[in-house]
Amino acid sequence: SQRTLVLLKPDAVRRGLIGEVVGRVERKAGWRITALELRTLDRAVLEQHYAEHVGKPFYEPLVEFMSSGPVVAMVVEGERVIEGVRTLAGPTDPIAATPGSIRGDFGTIVRENLIHASDSEESAERELKIFFPAFA
Ligand code: GTP
Ligand code: MG
Repeated sequence: SQRTLVLLKPDAVRRGLIGEVVGRVERKAGWRITALELRTLDRAVLEQHYAEHVGKPFYEPLVEFMSSGPVVAMVVEGERVIEGVRTLAGPTDPIAATPGSIRGDFGTIVRENLIHASDSEESAERELKIFFPAFA
């Protein structure tokens, strides 16, 4: 099976959607949450996490937003969980996301799109080392 890094972004935490989003992940058959922590991210961590986006026009506001309040960081393990959480989340733009997905149900703004989920096995291993070094 696989493991993935999931972040509930500061908008999800501020809006009281932790239970809603964690619940959707938790209810998928056979998936397990194996680490979970409420944490405020600093720039150094975000620079590593979003290394692929450094220098893009949305990078600075993204880091500002992602450090604006606590996130929930968690590790989820299970069958095809990397693709599976991306499907639960929906596409990056919440207006383009289908209702029924997390972004489609709760989001409107591209930056404030509620959730991050690793996009490949390589990303998952890289991101797990950043957020849960002892665990990885
Ligand atoms: P993550 O799971 O958060 O990595 O989202 P993603 O994989 O769907 O998107 P991507 O990695 O391409 O971008 C990371 C985050 O940057 C997105 O989730 C958005 O919050 C933000 N973002 C990406 N593209 C844009 C953009 O064109 N404009 C703005 N304002 N934000 C963007
Ligand atoms: Mg991404």
